[in-house]
Amino acid sequence: MQELKAIEFKNNKLYLIDQRKLPLIYKKFKCNNYMDVEFAIREMVVRGAPAIGAAAAYGVVLAAKEFVNKDKNSFIENMNQACSLLNKARPTAVNLMWAIKRMKEIITSNQDLNVEEMCIKLEKEADRILMDDIETNKAMAKHGNKVVPNEGTILTHCNTGALATAGYGTALGVIREAHYTGKNIFVYADETRPRLQGGRLTAWELRQENIPSKLIADSVAATLIRDKKIDVILVGADRIALNGDTANKIGTFMLSVVAKVYGIPFYIVAPTTTIDFDIETGEDIEIEERSSKEVTHIGETRIVPEDMNVYNPAFDVTPNENITGIITEKGIIQKPFKENILKLKK
Ligand code: MRU
Repeated sequence: MQELKAIEFKNNKLYLIDQRKLPLIYKKFKCNNYMDVEFAIREMVVRGAPAIGAAAAYGVVLAAKEFVNKDKNSFIENMNQACSLLNKARPTAVNLMWAIKRMKEIITSNQDLNVEEMCIKLEKEADRILMDDIETNKAMAKHGNKVVPNEGTILTHCNTGALATAGYGTALGVIREAHYTGKNIFVYADETRPRLQGGRLTAWELRQENIPSKLIADSVAATLIRDKKIDVILVGADRIALNGDTANKIGTFMLSVVAKVYGIPFYIVAPTTTIDFDIETGEDIEIEERSSKEVTHIGETRIVPEDMNVYNPAFDVTPNENITGIITEKGIIQKPFKENILKLKK
């Protein structure tokens, strides 16, 4: 298996696989500066919570390289502005804010260094964020594999694979692990309207690795669950509150309701960097609303009447009571979630 690199920093440029174009076109998007990174996150050239965080960290590195010739005070002032722009590129995935905070801490804790030395530290930190995420995903995959039967069918939503992370993936990482450890698994991948991350990206990753699978329209899931065709549901997360409420791609909540009715295990797979220790419940999670064009058009082709209004939230919140467990790199968090999540706080 050749490892897919959705995010690569070389020769002082950030290269991202352009996820707007997959699977029809495989092309790298080059970010020359932090504004390009902000654009790439906002326009979903790069997407998926951990991937957004890692890309943003390199956005901070590019900003540092741009301002390296300034005196220390104006360097810090410019860096703060760049960080707050990157921080706002998308509102729901907490990994973005987590990564920016971590990068800002490098600046605040190294005030004694000169600007050039700070730049070197920042680049090292971004590299660490990227590398740690791959390690985290592999650890998570091992824990997650325990909930996958030796022979069985998994349902997943959105894209949580190598494209959505620094590599390997979260929910799709568990699926990869199950497949590579010889389990006889079959995967149903939700198409994931409106941006079709399942149809375009998960299907692409599944095909690349020959994992037995079928793509379904989102509305097929309930029938498969009722007909006992699904053994376990694995999804990712964009932000997890202290009580376990989880924001993830729109449609996840609906899936969790059906899973609960029919008693199918429903697991969140996410690194601890996706936990927001500052919020008590999912009510505190800002849900991004995206352009109506994502619903009115497929590609550049309009598919609904010109004057139709659209409501297009990109995420929803699955209440903790619908979640069987939260698979992290530190193990599987069981209920009561709040008590067990707090134990993970460093
Ligand atoms: O809008 P997206 O494509 O960035 O949303 C992605 C998701 O909702 C994923 O499920 C989540 O970020 C976990 S990715 C490992």
